[in-house]
This record gives sequence, C-alpha cells and structure tokens, in this order.
Amino acid sequence: MPVRVLILILAVATTLIIGGCRDRAYDGEQVAPGDKLVIRFSHVTAENSPKGLAAQRFADLIRYRSQNQVEVQVFADSVLYQDGEEIEALRVGKVEMIAPATSKLAGLVPEWQVIDLPYLFSSVDQLHRFLDSPHGADLYSRLEEYGVKPLAFWDNGFKQLTSRSRPLIQPSDGAGLRFRVMINNQVLVSQFSLLGAEPVPLLFSEVSGALEEAKVDGQENTLSNIYSKRLYTHQPYITISDHGYLGYVVLANAEFWESLPGEVRELLEITLAEVTLWEHREASRMNAEDLVSLAGESGIQIHYQTAEERAQWFEKLAPSYSLLKHQIGAELVDAVVAAAAEGGGGLPGFR
Ligand code: LMR
Repeated sequence: MPVRVLILILAVATTLIIGGCRDRAYDGEQVAPGDKLVIRFSHVTAENSPKGLAAQRFADLIRYRSQNQVEVQVFADSVLYQDGEEIEALRVGKVEMIAPATSKLAGLVPEWQVIDLPYLFSSVDQLHRFLDSPHGADLYSRLEEYGVKPLAFWDNGFKQLTSRSRPLIQPSDGAGLRFRVMINNQVLVSQFSLLGAEPVPLLFSEVSGALEEAKVDGQENTLSNIYSKRLYTHQPYITISDHGYLGYVVLANAEFWESLPGEVRELLEITLAEVTLWEHREASRMNAEDLVSLAGESGIQIHYQTAEERAQWFEKLAPSYSLLKHQIGAELVDAVVAAAAEGGGGLPGFR
C-alpha cells in the first residue's frame, strides 16, 4: 500500500476517532453503523454498467482505505431516485453523490447540450480534451452555481440506434417512428424531429417497459446500457452510428463536500481520481465486449454505418447545431466544433 494512502488512512481514522468520537471503538470493524460517515451515492444504471461498477469500486476502496470509518452506500438502477429526481435529491441533501448523464444536466445548465450535438466527436479523447479546456472548465463551474460540486467525468461511450420494425440505414428510415430520448434535452428532441420521427422523453427506468409495450419504436443508447438493461429484447435492429456521446459528471452536494474533514475529502478525491482512470478503461472495454455479446444474440441484426451514410445522417441532423446556437449562443457551439475539428473529429463538410 503506498505510504501516502497509509498516512491518509491513519489521518482519517485519527480525525474521526479523536474528533468528537473519544468513546468509540478504535477498531474500524467494530464501529457501529450510526458512527460512520455515510455517503449515499444514487444512480440510474444497472450494477454491471460502467457507472455501476465504478461506483461500487469507489465504495469498496473507500471502505477499505478508511478502515470502515467512511461508508459509500451505492443505490443502483434508480432504486432510490430516478433521473428526473436525483439532481434535486442531491441539491437538498437527500443523497450526497450522483453521476447523471451530461445530457440531463441541461435541465440546470443548457450549455451542457453541446456534448449531445450529433456527429461532433469521433473519439473519446477529443471529448476529454474539450472538457479539459477552459470551455469545459466553464461548463463545470456553471454547475457550481446550483450547490453541486463536480468531482469527475466518467465515460460510458458513443450512442447507437436501435429499432423494432426496420433497420435504420438511411436517415429517412427513422421517419414516422417514435424514439425515446433522455429527459431535459432539446438537442436530442431536435435530432429525432429532424429525422421526421417523434421524440418521446422518458426516464431511463421507463425505457425497457416502453420498448416492451411498443410505446416507442426505437431509442439511442450505448451498447453497455443496451446490453445490461436488455434493451435489445424488443429491438432486433441495431445501427452502429456512434452519433453522440454519453458520459457522466460525478457530483457531490457542495455543502456536504465542503463540510468534510480535509483528510477525508482528500482520501475521497484521491480515490475518485484513481477510480475515474479505471472507469475510463472499463467503459471502453465493456462497450466493446457488449457489442460482441449482442452480435451473438439470436435475431439481432447489426448494421455498421458507412462513412457515406454518416455524411448523409449528419447533413440531415446539422440544423440541430443552429438550433442550439439559438438557445445558448454561438460562441460555445463554435468552440466545441473547432475543438473537435482540431482533434480530427467532426465531419469533413462541417469544418
Ligand atoms: C439514459 O437515460 O439513457 C442514460 O442516461 C442512462 C445512464 O445514466 O447511462
């Protein structure tokens, strides 16, 4: 165990035991549940998703490194709060940590919708570079105005399209169909409207039922979400389009975070940084592995969008860029397009 971590553990234990806990047991294993520092971490995806596994790894490492003095309780699969509720639950202190999709942060800060622009990024590295730029820093700091503390960015992956009734090859194949979209997001709504389809905003917990009951005909999601939530069960057609990116901002309740003893906060932040690097690798591995698993499912047809088809889809969806400029101003949209183009991303005709 690195000396720095050992020192931190001792510091955490000392702070918690000496600071107001003199009559408590010294052995972490013996500490009563009421004496622990409990952090509730709520999220909406399956336990075996990139976010679910990372949240659990964070919890396990913190329990071990703090010798049971700090307990991160993970509530997966919307069991505590659904996506429509989790940000509010965090803000009012009903939970201490969440990791919502950037697409849903648009409910607080519409500028986050730049990440949803179709066919913008062609690699996750481009997206990371944008988020590490001053424009990304500005996006994070806008969240802080709402009493939440951004701690990390977790990947999921590029979104793909699925459908019940027909393969989605040409942009016109989506016309007349109903597609589930994530809540709070005008870019996603405009994307499907531009296809001549009907966008239907639904919570993540509602998607599987809506597909089963044919309330919607299709949806967009990452392969890891499609596989872990079995969203392919009623969706035999999958198009590998990589048309948009799904990732998460790990958020804490700001007041809670600032109130933590410095050593505890440092242990949490160091561990989260380490888990974040692991999560980025794991998300990429899982999406690749889930593609193989989906290809092995009987009755599933997978179409890989060609470069020519990508150009056609982009042309059809390009007005969503102007719509977003209209909503949040041109500066940020132009900046993200320039950042993607610099990194070799975006589509040729758009640079
Ligand atoms: C969705 O609603 O489809 C995703 O945002 C779920 C998630 O958190 O990955």
